[in-house]
Amino acid sequence: MKKADKVSIPSGFLALIVLIIFISGIATMLVSGHNINAGSGKTPAKTTDTESSAASDSSSGSTSGLSSRAVSPNAYEEKSNLPSDYRLISVLNEDVFKGPLILVNYQFQSMIDGENLVNIYDNASSSIGVKDDDMFINESIVEPINSFFDAFQKSEGSTSILISSSYRSKDAQTKIYNESVKSTGVQSTAYYVAVPGFSEHQTGYCFDTAAYNYSGEMIELDGEGQFAWLSDNCQDYGFILRYPDDKTNITGIGYEAWHFRYVGVPHATFIKDHKLCFEEYIEGIKDYTFDKGPLLIDKGSKGKWVVFYIPRLDAFNNTDVPVPADSKKCPYTVSGNNIDGFIVTVDVTNDSSNSLLTKARTDWSFDNSSLVIADFKDYDLTTDPGRDTDTSSDGDSNGNWESDPFWDEDEGDSESDEENYESRFDYVDYYDEYNDGTASSYEE
Ligand code: DAL
Ligand code: ZN
Repeated sequence: MKKADKVSIPSGFLALIVLIIFISGIATMLVSGHNINAGSGKTPAKTTDTESSAASDSSSGSTSGLSSRAVSPNAYEEKSNLPSDYRLISVLNEDVFKGPLILVNYQFQSMIDGENLVNIYDNASSSIGVKDDDMFINESIVEPINSFFDAFQKSEGSTSILISSSYRSKDAQTKIYNESVKSTGVQSTAYYVAVPGFSEHQTGYCFDTAAYNYSGEMIELDGEGQFAWLSDNCQDYGFILRYPDDKTNITGIGYEAWHFRYVGVPHATFIKDHKLCFEEYIEGIKDYTFDKGPLLIDKGSKGKWVVFYIPRLDAFNNTDVPVPADSKKCPYTVSGNNIDGFIVTVDVTNDSSNSLLTKARTDWSFDNSSLVIADFKDYDLTTDPGRDTDTSSDGDSNGNWESDPFWDEDEGDSESDEENYESRFDYVDYYDEYNDGTASSYEE
């Protein structure tokens, strides 16, 4: 009792000192934490953590290095559930608009104006013709294009094929759009030509094919005969037929047998095997997250991949994205989807013990009804007033479009032209929102 009394006095004093030290420590941490956070918030995305700093932080393949950061924007880090064969890289949120899996369509415009473009003419294999020598394409798809057309020539023995269009700037698309309106009318233009800004051609990841006929004229491909090989085999080279005939009410674009888009071999293969269009794939893949389990694309001897979606973290400039720690064993790519997140593709062909394989999924049950354009009107070539159905009248029989009979160019009567075009916008009401921005160009 006495002993306890004696001890209790200094003990209480010590406790007070410890308490003061503890409180001042907490205060210091809060202040420095606040400073770090504020600094981080002001720092532009480009100067925050980069892939290389993230890589060195986590070279052991664990999250220990990254967990010391003042801001912890990543759910995986907070949950500490990152498997040891994955690490985090920090990706700029603005990169959502870049990469081979960006979806560009009537809803989502291209935020890029080509990227890493190279001249096709200078790089094309001898198996492909190129319409002219100032056409450009994303450099990463030169090799796939060459392999694709070399294989076509080997299989079909044809050299008449050519690339008729590739990267197009918004200005180039505007010219095409306006020319098309003049020559074929608004209805068919809306069906085949993307509104400027909303064309996949602006990305540099797609191209159109054409062929020379026996008279040396360039003709549109119909995908028939020897050209059926292209849509039958494009997936093996990473391409999809972007506008299939059975998905027009989702893509908003008519069947284009000539337009191919690069997305990469695993994605193109899956899209083909499951008879999807790109819109369906990009929306459906969102269910395959790192936590719920990736999509497994197993093509046997051709390769094995896991694919998962990481939503962009809008509260920050960057999003932490899990990727394999050993990129030699498991090469990977990260692409934006042009909407709200990133798609990670991991080649696990040489890593049968990859931790993601344990929860990988092969099912695909995405309900596409939300993607169907409510007011979509399939376009009938035979009833369009701008279509030259009487091919004999113009002395040719190639079925090309005649001048639009509603376009009285010669009279220079811009008011009546305008009226004509305005009334014909009724045909394409689902495009009205976007046509508002381009309608003025018809008044010129
Ligand atoms: N023909 C495609 C849809 C485009 O204009 O981009
Ligand atoms: Zn095209």
